[in-house]
Amino acid sequence: MTPFDQEFWEDRYRSAHQHVWSGEPNRNLVTEVAGLRPGVALDAGTGEGADAIWLASQGWQVKAVDFSATALERAAARSSEVDWEQADLTTWTPEPAAYDLVSAQFIHLAGLSEVVPRLGTAVRPGGILLVVGHQRAEGHPFPELCYPAKEMAGWLDDGWEILIAGTRPGREPTRDDEVLKARRLS
Ligand SMILES: C[S@@+](CC[C@H](N)C(=O)[O-])C[C@H]1O[C@@H](n2cnc3c(N)ncnc32)[C@H](O)[C@@H]1O
Repeated sequence: MTPFDQEFWEDRYRSAHQHVWSGEPNRNLVTEVAGLRPGVALDAGTGEGADAIWLASQGWQVKAVDFSATALERAAARSSEVDWEQADLTTWTPEPAAYDLVSAQFIHLAGLSEVVPRLGTAVRPGGILLVVGHQRAEGHPFPELCYPAKEMAGWLDDGWEILIAGTRPGREPTRDDEVLKARRLS
């Protein structure tokens, strides 16, 4: 079985009567975006779109991608401000250097070490790449897919300034989030 594949997520969203997530933006997105001037943003693995909708409400022009049709239908029902696109991040190539902010929150992928640098190609020089995931902890069904932020930072080449690579209080009370925030230099 492939953990967290498209079938898994589609089933998860379909089996929830109304929604899976709270509808609130992720804490570390809100914190880390606070000081940025709104521009063009990409939310990769948007789910039901709470982060993308929040970014749009803050003045960002937002594109949001997920491979779950059900999640995107729910997201689109909440907002027509965001450009929603169904795509698989393991194969999708974003437009190069097109975004001031690329955010990926809690996408648990076996191939994340390839996906993160590819998402990085979408960031403009001076722009921000923000990747947030769960801290590796007992109780997670696939702890190997919870990557330490320092490991994620090692996936980027020297065209990046690492602003944060560590843990921060997150959306769950029992474990922190792993937060990678990097600025593209060139
Ligand atoms: C834990 S949810 C997080 C959703 C949202 N980012 C949030 O923080 O609420 C992970 C999301 O990533 C999406 N996802 C996982 N793998 C993906 C892939 N290969 N391509 C596109 N979306 C993917 C899932 O469909 C799911 O909506």
